[in-house]
Amino acid sequence: MEDILFLSRLQFAITTVYHFFFVPLTIGLGLFIAIWETVAYRSGNSDDERILRFWGRLFLLNFAAGVVSGIVLEFQFGMNWAEYSRFVGDVFGVPLAIETLLSFFITSTFLGLWMFGRNTLPREIHLMCIWIVVAAACMSALWILITNSFMQNPVGFVFNNGRAEMVDFLVLLLNPYFLHQFPHVIAASVCTAAFFVLGISAWKIKQNSNDSNLFERSFKFALFMGFIGVLAVALSGHFQGQSVAKLQPMKLAAMKNLKETADPASLYILPGIEIPALLSVMVHHKSSGEVKGMEELQRAFESRYGSGNYVPPVWISYLSFRVMVGSSLVMLSFVFYGIFWFVILKKKMHQKILLLITAGISLPYLANTAGWLIAETGRQPWIVYGYMPTSKAVSVGVSSTNVLFSLIAFSVIYMILAVIVFLLMRREVLRGCGDKKITGKNPAITIVD
Ligand code: HEM
Repeated sequence: MEDILFLSRLQFAITTVYHFFFVPLTIGLGLFIAIWETVAYRSGNSDDERILRFWGRLFLLNFAAGVVSGIVLEFQFGMNWAEYSRFVGDVFGVPLAIETLLSFFITSTFLGLWMFGRNTLPREIHLMCIWIVVAAACMSALWILITNSFMQNPVGFVFNNGRAEMVDFLVLLLNPYFLHQFPHVIAASVCTAAFFVLGISAWKIKQNSNDSNLFERSFKFALFMGFIGVLAVALSGHFQGQSVAKLQPMKLAAMKNLKETADPASLYILPGIEIPALLSVMVHHKSSGEVKGMEELQRAFESRYGSGNYVPPVWISYLSFRVMVGSSLVMLSFVFYGIFWFVILKKKMHQKILLLITAGISLPYLANTAGWLIAETGRQPWIVYGYMPTSKAVSVGVSSTNVLFSLIAFSVIYMILAVIVFLLMRREVLRGCGDKKITGKNPAITIVD
């Protein structure tokens, strides 16, 4: 059973982290493209249209990979997590059905119209399509995060015959956990797209190709998008931290490696670096205030739920939190530097800096992965917080060989998919915006080979 649990968790971790490589980029890049298309529509500038098409092609590739990897995720609920599915099925049925039937179908339909209707649809309708795609993609994220928030902080249900039954849909929608998680994930998506656009634009500028002047424009825009995104992610992350302190104090204590309850509580940034009272300030917005430590929380859990280990793997939460916050600091310094040097002083960026910014594409991906590691490992040993331990959630009818086989199969499929997506994206990046002549009555629409 231990093997099945470990392998099932490993499989879910690999597939979710992989899937989440594509999700934030779909949301953020969709937003970037929608804004850019609005600008192109208003300006009628054919250069704007060429940039739009370039990012549009990368967006479509990323979207397709996200869909494929997302489908595999859902198989696992029935296959590896049957007990869990039975437990939450009545609660998750509605939000997940809405996600698939409404949000995903709307996204796909309007994306299809946007993709194939470029030269046939009236421009206003074409523009409207991409805005609908962005709104529906955010709605998809919303429904998924509502279900995740239920696992983190179960609300709006009664416990009946060993399973959760939904009694109040509105309470489920207004879960305080979700209200903090959603803005953080959307802000993280904006950061991801900004750094993706920045990194690729930097590389194209460095190549000094024919279209590098076009990439300077998307670079500039992405700098501002990145600036807003990083500030938003830090602010929303701060409020999410406060919500975690209230709803899952053990997770917060693990993130900060706080063993004993303290008032005021210091923040241990790295081993040996302590800032007195900072943790109290972060949690209570004042220099005093109790923050519970893991030892006291363990005792409280034991008296409530019986003996057991209620402390999550501390090193994962501790390290991941530092990776996430550290990445945002590096991202912030990149956008500050870029805005100051490139936008305000209007100077050329140094080749090595451009290369560094290209490598910076990895930063939001690191932060996203670290964020989910905190969110999911930090609430262990629970799969549904306070109600169902993860160890009780796995399927009883599958063998560890089955899970191992599907784990290997998914990993291989995902690796192949990653290589294909990378090669296709690389081809598009090398192709760039092209140096095609633009003709026709409506130059923003007609680009001829
Ligand atoms: C100062 C900066 C940041 C702070 C204070 C912060 C705070 C937090 C906290 C407290 C959580 C855990 C919430 C939970 O367990 O549910 C979290 C999760 C997460 N973070 Fe951050 N974060 C920051 C930066 C970032 C950045 C830069 C990204 C990505 C670009 C990011 C992406 C995520 C994601 C994807 C999650 C998991 C989903 C969620 O629970 O919101 N974070 N963050």
